[in-house]
Amino acid sequence: MPVVERSCATGRVSRREFLQHGAAAGAAVASLSAARGAHAAGQQRIRVGLIGCGGRGSGAALNAINAGPDVTLVGMADLFAERVQTSLKLLRKQKPEQIDVTDERCFAGFDGYEKLIASGVDVVLIAAASHFHPQMLKAAVDAGKHVFIEKPAAVNVPDLKIAMQACQAAAQKGLNIVAGLCWRYDYAVRETIKRVIDGQIGQIVAIQETYITSPYVLRQRQPGWTEMQYQCQNWYHFNWLAGDQTLQQLIHSLDKASWALGDKPPESCWGHGGRQVCTDPKYGDLFDHHAVVFQYADGVRVYGFCRAQPGCYNETSDVIFGTRGRCDVLRFRIDGEKPWRYEGQRPSMYDVEHQELFAAIRAGKAINDGHYLCLSTMLALMAQAACQTGQKLTWQQINASQYAPAPSRYDWDADPPVMPDSNGQYPTAMPGITKFF
Ligand SMILES: NC(=O)c1ccc[n+]([C@@H]2O[C@H](COP(=O)([O-])OP(=O)(O)OC[C@H]3O[C@@H](n4cnc5c(N)ncnc54)[C@H](O)[C@@H]3O)[C@@H](O)[C@H]2O)c1
Repeated sequence: MPVVERSCATGRVSRREFLQHGAAAGAAVASLSAARGAHAAGQQRIRVGLIGCGGRGSGAALNAINAGPDVTLVGMADLFAERVQTSLKLLRKQKPEQIDVTDERCFAGFDGYEKLIASGVDVVLIAAASHFHPQMLKAAVDAGKHVFIEKPAAVNVPDLKIAMQACQAAAQKGLNIVAGLCWRYDYAVRETIKRVIDGQIGQIVAIQETYITSPYVLRQRQPGWTEMQYQCQNWYHFNWLAGDQTLQQLIHSLDKASWALGDKPPESCWGHGGRQVCTDPKYGDLFDHHAVVFQYADGVRVYGFCRAQPGCYNETSDVIFGTRGRCDVLRFRIDGEKPWRYEGQRPSMYDVEHQELFAAIRAGKAINDGHYLCLSTMLALMAQAACQTGQKLTWQQINASQYAPAPSRYDWDADPPVMPDSNGQYPTAMPGITKFF
């Protein structure tokens, strides 16, 4: 893997400390001081700012304003000014009465997120290129804001530790951290996993996680763009910005497996992957297929598969095998000794994320999803590193990883950490050759 020194400091939180703290703060909803009741419904509007005005960010802004008439979008930030305007136009068409975004509260560039956070918002929605999530999360929590943050929490381990620290700080400050691992907010999946945890399929033996689909959206290079502009536009195809399909898609699957297993870390992971079909430079430096095996202390194995190649069979599924039955999580069904189907309501999980976030804010309570957001991000990083290096990695090893590719400075004329060769090709990881560190 290419080596580039980070310019920002690396957070140093003991994982054990975070996991203990997270478990206590976690899940759950802690009662806070009466001061946080200031947003009790009807008393005051809740001002929301969006960072990252692309597909998911625009969706999250809509989910937020769907959470109640007291929620108003007041500011927006994106690397690119035109993205702010496109998203704003769309959102104004949906719910104009809940959009109060003035020109003064539209921000562009690498420091736009800092200006947005300082613009008088109560809640920050983070849905930018994933590389930037830890620094945005830290800045929002430092400024005392409630946060909705899309997955993953980070795309390398040193940055993940910054995110962990920010989640800890949020718990101490009584701030909400709701994470975009959206299946945790799906009523049907919640009920299904609850039954698995309660033992309806007996002891879990193995879990098969499948996320095989087509490549992510491609953004073509335009004349006049610097390499940094191009990579930030086509960010889904660069490891330093997106973290591969393991961090973008398989993370949802690994998160469901981890949830069913009680959100405990695995012992080790090995895997294989490569770049076989999507080899054009427009696909950056990503692998187009991965297969991983996680081993847990009690002998349980989690098998994870992802593929992003066009023209192939696609499937997204989570199948949990137990000693007394089998659970197909996304079909909300259990087969075996105690068969069961979910027949309840199924509102949009994306809306539910925000319904619960804003309900907590109004009630003066705090949800903190930091524990599982960071644990599942670490699982995805472990899968990525095991596939890229071809090595079997322990949980201790991945936690000690120092690999953190980033530019020496964030500016349009700066070189990104991965550059094309004379044929336009980007260097990619080679299992057995690429070193883990
Ligand atoms: N939970 C889910 O189901 C789900 C689905 C899709 C995407 N996501 C996550 O949401 C995030 C955004 O994904 P997307 O599909 O909306 O991508 P996108 O490319 O459509 O939008 C991302 C936007 O962020 C902007 N951006 C990038 N870096 C920025 C920075 N430093 N400051 C400000 N803006 C910046 C980009 O210019 C772009 O407009 C990613 O982390 C992704 O993993 C989650």
